[in-house]
Amino acid sequence: LEKLYQYHRETYEHSLRVANTAYQFGKFINYHDYLLNDLYLIGAVHDVGKLKIPLSILNKKGALTQEEYSIIKQHPQFGFDILTKESISPYITKSVLYHHENWDGTGYYGLKSSEIPFFARIIRIIDSYDTMYYGRLYQQSLKRQEVLDELERCAGRFYDPNLTSLFINFIQLNGNS
Ligand SMILES: [Fe+2]
Repeated sequence: LEKLYQYHRETYEHSLRVANTAYQFGKFINYHDYLLNDLYLIGAVHDVGKLKIPLSILNKKGALTQEEYSIIKQHPQFGFDILTKESISPYITKSVLYHHENWDGTGYYGLKSSEIPFFARIIRIIDSYDTMYYGRLYQQSLKRQEVLDELERCAGRFYDPNLTSLFINFIQLNGNS
């Protein structure tokens, strides 16, 4: 994670926010206490594979070319490889590998609904929430309510619908993060 801090500060900060939000959300849905740390960990390392993506692509303003996009799409696999080398349990690494799956099966690997690891489904939502709320270099960030509307709109397509409505409740009750 420290390497990510040095390599790409924006991704590092995004990862920590996702980890924190994931932990709090796990608590909110009364998920098993002893698994909250794993959820935090997955949030913290979900984008660690971006270490292997050239900065010219990570920092590019505007749309990516098809080739750049296909390189970016490899970051879950890179992350999986890095973590597997560190002997992190498959249950963690699988959630990293599948954090860009869509509920309807149109994500990177085409897994759908319950085939997608539970934690990966949570990270998918929080990752999007954080990215839309805090914005990217080339994008304006959205207002909180706009982000929640967007999540709702894409529930069932990109996101697990049940988790999405829980997450929307969670954000509305908690106000921040
Ligand atoms: Fe990612």
